[in-house]
Amino acid sequence: MAIERTFSMIKPDAMARNLSSEINTIIEKAGFYIIAQKRTLLTQVKAKKFYEVHKDKPFYHELWKFIASGPVLAQVLQKDNAIADYRKLMGATNPQEAADGTLRKKYGATIGENAVHGSDGPETAQREISFFFSELEMFDFDDIFIENL
Ligand code: RTP
Ligand code: MG
Repeated sequence: MAIERTFSMIKPDAMARNLSSEINTIIEKAGFYIIAQKRTLLTQVKAKKFYEVHKDKPFYHELWKFIASGPVLAQVLQKDNAIADYRKLMGATNPQEAADGTLRKKYGATIGENAVHGSDGPETAQREISFFFSELEMFDFDDIFIENL
């Protein structure tokens, strides 16, 4: 399996409950390396842009309003098969349908306030990572390994 990067975001509902460290402990125990991290508050303009792919969905307004309603923790995770594995760790979009042991089952309240976000594929991961981070703000465990050979 290939080493991948995925974009992860701890959403305002989980941030307001001060759960970022608790959630990241689970993420790290599952084998992900957090290779970049940023606490920020999205403006409404940036929130709309981040969720642009959902602009025709009935929940778009609710979605961008919520993500701009409080601080978020944006981060890049690195691991073998990171994209699919992080989706699995998050669980289903609706916390009521999420499997036991998943982040959304544990920390999500409703389909809107579902604690965490994760990229749904390689192109999305690339777009979402570069929305928040430049290459200089990330490190790569592969590079470090090669340099130390
Ligand atoms: P995410 O993008 O946040 O990781 O979640 P996802 O892939 O599991 O779900 P997606 O279909 O991309 O939807 C993005 C976010 O929109 C909210 N949502 N609300 N009210 C609704 O019916 C509804 N459906 C989706 C959720 O917060 C979801 O995470
Ligand atoms: Mg999504």
